[in-house]
This record gives sequence, C-alpha cells and structure tokens, in this order.
Amino acid sequence: EKGGYPDFMMKEIHEQPRVIRDTLSGRLADGRLSIDELDLTHEELNLIDRVYVIACGTSYHAGLIAKNLIEGWARIPCEVEVASEFRYRNPIITPTTLVVAVSQSGETADTLAAIRDARVKGAKVFGITNVVGSPVARESDGVIYTKANKEIAVASTKSFLGQVVSLTLLALLLAQVKGKFKTNQVRLLFRELADTAEQVEHILSDTAAIDEAACACKDAKSALFVGRGMGAAIANEGALKLKEISYLHAEAYPAGEMKHGPIALIDEGFPVIAVATKSPVYDKLVSNLQEAKARGAMVVAVATEGDEDIRAHADHVIYIPKVRDAFSAITASVPLQLFARAIAIERGCDVDQPRNLAKSVTVE
Ligand code: F6R
Repeated sequence: EKGGYPDFMMKEIHEQPRVIRDTLSGRLADGRLSIDELDLTHEELNLIDRVYVIACGTSYHAGLIAKNLIEGWARIPCEVEVASEFRYRNPIITPTTLVVAVSQSGETADTLAAIRDARVKGAKVFGITNVVGSPVARESDGVIYTKANKEIAVASTKSFLGQVVSLTLLALLLAQVKGKFKTNQVRLLFRELADTAEQVEHILSDTAAIDEAACACKDAKSALFVGRGMGAAIANEGALKLKEISYLHAEAYPAGEMKHGPIALIDEGFPVIAVATKSPVYDKLVSNLQEAKARGAMVVAVATEGDEDIRAHADHVIYIPKVRDAFSAITASVPLQLFARAIAIERGCDVDQPRNLAKSVTVE
C-alpha cells in the first residue's frame, strides 16, 4: 500500500504533482474561473471587503501563503490567524467578511468552533478541506475540496500543497471578480499554476542536493529557517516539518528580523535554511545571508535554477525550477519536505508516526 515507497510520507510527497492537477481540473472555462461549490453569486463575492484565513498548524501556513495572494492580487485586506486564538477574541466581522477555514481533516475542534462563531457573527464561511462530508465541509457556506485523497503520514505534505493550490485559485477568483485581472492574465496565471505540477515532478526526480544538505545538518541541535515575502511564509512550514518528524528544534523567521534577536544563536556550523528563490526581495535576502555567514552559519539555500551567484553565500544549494514568485510556495515547499524527511531518517525517526502527534485533533 506504500506503492513501493519506503514510507507513506515519501509516497505522499510523490503524489503532489497529481494533487496539483486534480485540484485544478475543470476550473477554467473560456477564461473564467469557476468554483461553483462556493455557492456565492458574483455580486456577493464582489462585496467582500475583508478576509480571515483560520486554521491550525500546517493549514495555518497555507493561509500565510494565501494572504500574500489575496492582498497582492485581489487587494482585499487579509488576516491569517490560528483558530485557537481567533475563537477566543472578538474579531471584527461584518456581513461582507469572508472567513476561509482551512482543515485537511475537516474536524479540527478549534477550526470548527471558529467557523460556528464566525457564522453566528454573520460572516460568510468557505471551508477548504480534504475530507468530503466532514464537519468543516458541512458547516461552511461553501467548500473547496483539496483532492489530495487520504493522507496517512501524520505530517501533512500533499494536503498542504492541495491547500496552497486551492487558496491560490480562490485568490485568483477574488481578483477576477474584483476586476483586477483581465481574462488573458487569468489564463496566463492559470497556465503557469498548472505548470507547477511538472516543475514539482522535476524536483522529485533528483534529490541528491537535498540529501547532501540534510546529511550536513543532521546532528545540529537547532536550525533557523528564513525567507522574505513568500519565502518567509514558506520558511514556517519548513521549520514545522523538520521539528515534528526529526525532533530537531527549528524556528522560522522573516530574514530581516534575524538581526533583532535570533542572529545571537548563530555560531560556527549553525544551520540556516533559506528560501532564496528569485523574487522582488532577493537582494535583501542575500544580504541577510551574508550577515549569517559572517558569523559562521552553515547556509542551505533553496534557489532558482541558473542562479550561480547564490553559491557565494551558501554552503549547500538546492536548485528548483524558475516560477513566478506567487507560485514559489508550491515548488519551494517540496525540497523542504524532503529535507525534513531525510534528516528524520538519518536520525532514526519514524517519519509516518511522530511521537505525541495525532492525525486529527478533535479536542481543544
Ligand atoms: C502538521 C500537521 C498539523 C495539522 C493541524 C491542523 O504536519 O499536519 O499541524 O496541519 O493539526 O489539522 P487540519 O488541517 O486537519 O485541521
């Protein structure tokens, strides 16, 4: 049932190109996006003036990525909040607020409670879930299914990618409804989004650089994951994957924050894993890497194919295909999943069943 892979995590990582294709299948016709399950009219969607993405854990990280797109493309203010915080404060909710609840299992207690609360307060709630007919699906006004199929490894990989792709579609839809993109732009973006399936396949076809970097970091006590912009959001998921399956302490920081505290951690050989893909903030990130290297950090950079300059600032470079910054989470997350898994295996951990964790968290 592991399909020839050594563990479910590896099998599920390799299913990701299929997840991208299935999540996008049938979504674009004549240059118009359709997410009919959302059950909101064009007019209702057009009125949305605030978005909250509510989730826990890895699903929350998918929300951090979505914020960049919802604000960047649709120009709608978007906050991302962990469900256990959202439900116990008094967020500003009006009838034109959209709450997007993201949950792989569709039964996370805090996320469900947040949905109920938001609906009582009059928000429209969209669920993004992997489980058909789950409580999140039933209790939301509309639902997008992530098409990951059942995920067995406790650490989420393919369902995270399905969430990111679904949220990207939602951001694109909101941007189209708000008139921010012309039909041709939507077509182009959709095609590039679909192309990430092949790019992920390419990443999966050669993991030598990832394994080498993992080997170099396996005995560390702690690691920092850094990035800027989209890269900062991606870094969060990289750090979570590593800590949950390898028990190696990891933290994510926006790279520009390093000098405000965490740089004090860095000494000879301290691993700093950087999402260093080409983006509008690439040069800023590189100067942060120089600061880290000057203090002895061992830098592992996830970088864009063809970027030879990065070699001067990193001890290990993991190249991934060039994509638009908006889609970089889809590609850059994959080497970080493989990196975490490789370290966990080196450390003798059970990657499918990490200690203390459960696949679904139905208690508060
Ligand atoms: C980490 C992981 C968890 C879940 C979190 C929320 O790999 O899987 O952090 O993301 O428990 O679960 P769902 O998405 O089912 O609400």
